[in-house]
Amino acid sequence: MLRRPKSVVGLDIGSSAVKAVELKPAGKAYRVTAFGSEPVPPDSIVDGAIIDGTAVADAIRRLFESRKIKGKDVAASLSGNAVIVKKITLPVMSEGELSESIAWEAEQYIPFDIQDVNLDYQVLDKGAATGGKGTMDVLLVAAKKEKIADYTGVIAQAGRQAVIVDVDAFALQNAYEVNYGIEAAQVVVLLNAGASAININIISGDQSVFTRDISIGGNAYTEALQKELSLPFESADLLKQGGEVEGVSYEDARAVLRAVTENVMLEIQKTFDFFKATAASDRIDRIVVCGGASRAEGFRELLGERFEVPIEAFDPFKRVAFEARKFGVNDPADVAPTAAVAVGLALRRVGDR
Ligand SMILES: Nc1ncnc2c1ncn2[C@@H]1O[C@H](COP(=O)(O)OP(=O)(O)OP(=O)(O)O)[C@@H](O)[C@H]1O
Ligand SMILES: [Mg+2]
Repeated sequence: MLRRPKSVVGLDIGSSAVKAVELKPAGKAYRVTAFGSEPVPPDSIVDGAIIDGTAVADAIRRLFESRKIKGKDVAASLSGNAVIVKKITLPVMSEGELSESIAWEAEQYIPFDIQDVNLDYQVLDKGAATGGKGTMDVLLVAAKKEKIADYTGVIAQAGRQAVIVDVDAFALQNAYEVNYGIEAAQVVVLLNAGASAININIISGDQSVFTRDISIGGNAYTEALQKELSLPFESADLLKQGGEVEGVSYEDARAVLRAVTENVMLEIQKTFDFFKATAASDRIDRIVVCGGASRAEGFRELLGERFEVPIEAFDPFKRVAFEARKFGVNDPADVAPTAAVAVGLALRRVGDR
């Protein structure tokens, strides 16, 4: 028990790229001791489901080998419709009673057979429980066993061991708390726009008050360019990131990209509307964005205009020392947007729940 908890490699298995981060405690914060990302072939992971396990395992193996990452223990994460996060209200009970009855309680909130999921939970307001309300709020997390096995399987195939399977939205929150601290009176939207999905976690102080994954992301931009400008995938992908493609200018692409951003904003709006309709308060103080697709044409600008709150780029290296050049990165700003989930995962320790 007195040993220092063992660190893990944070491994974010994204549908466009796998990212790895290893951290060591340094003073009151952390420093990055290993870092890298490796592309995943298109369509190997679709809607969060691993379609081509070998392709994903190969990407993970390449990543660990090329960056000389020695750690065997890995923390990975799931998102999308394989994971259900729900705040439920239960009568006040002891920890023991709760752990015994949670499966039974969860049954009515989970649209899957309870045998098919792994359950976890966290009591949110012990304070209110002792305040005589007679009820307590519990955050319930259920993940499909099949999905967990798919993710731990590719990690094993790459010669590593998944010791923690987290949820993208919570990894994001961990990365946020370490870098920004916990602001008690603030409602902050953490928004991670990836290639195939947008993870949203709305936090108030140290509590997650709402999470949702929206199934639209960077791929929608590439697909729109392919269709509207008759381009192959590679050219479209390059063009949307501002790269040069023969015969087309970024100006040709801009209107197409803007239209996709408008669509994405509509989806985000729906999520916020749902949050406001179900939450106790509809306040949002700021939106902190990351993920590769948050760099898309007009993304941050339209987000700010539409929701009329300050938009900030999530910097996972704000208080985590990152000597970018040591890891072959010229400008940390190039990798910061896509590193948040992996940083959050690397903060976990072997033995964490
Ligand atoms: N400068 C840019 N402009 C527009 N899009 C970009 C830019 N840079 C990266 N992207 C897009 O961001 C996406 C990759 O981001 P990220 O690494 O966060 O996704 P992921 O984690 O692989 O995906 P997911 O979590 O959805 O499975 C890709 O769709 C990529 O094309
Ligand atoms: Mg991602």
